[in-house]
Amino acid sequence: MLSENVAKLLNNQVNKEFYSAYLYLDFENFYKDKSLDGFANWYHVQVQEEVAHAQLMMQYLQDNDYSVTLEAIDKPNIPLSDLMDPLKAGLKHEQYVTELIHNCYAAAYEEKDFRTMQFLDWFVKEQGEEEKNASDMISRFDLFGHDAKGLYDLDAEYKTRTYVAPSIMTNN
Ligand SMILES: [Fe+2]
Ligand SMILES: [Fe+2]
Repeated sequence: MLSENVAKLLNNQVNKEFYSAYLYLDFENFYKDKSLDGFANWYHVQVQEEVAHAQLMMQYLQDNDYSVTLEAIDKPNIPLSDLMDPLKAGLKHEQYVTELIHNCYAAAYEEKDFRTMQFLDWFVKEQGEEEKNASDMISRFDLFGHDAKGLYDLDAEYKTRTYVAPSIMTNN
């Protein structure tokens, strides 16, 4: 049985994961407008990942007898003009999501809710990867993104990213 507090935090996290998807959809549109289809594709895959995160959270709540409440998703309101803007905003956003996941974890720990802690282990690890990916994109843009050929090659590479369902989804 989930405590009221843990359940509320996880329900809130459903909304935050959908917001992440919405934010990355905005980034996808930004790069499409700039004809950088590879960068757009990278965020397109990211959108799918974030929707999967929301689905995992919902499934967990449902499996534990909690009725999910879907709230309105905020409008993405990060101003984007420079090609680097989404990359920087992406890292900042993932750092914020890590904090949220850690808050969920801390609440579960407080309640000795070991089941939820075990469920959240995957998300803790995933956030480490999300932050690394976001930070790598910034470093690589710094290194290669400032001349036309380098940018073309980066874009071509990001075009090859494909969506893979989270391991936690396919394992059971
Ligand atoms: Fe996520
Ligand atoms: Fe994420």
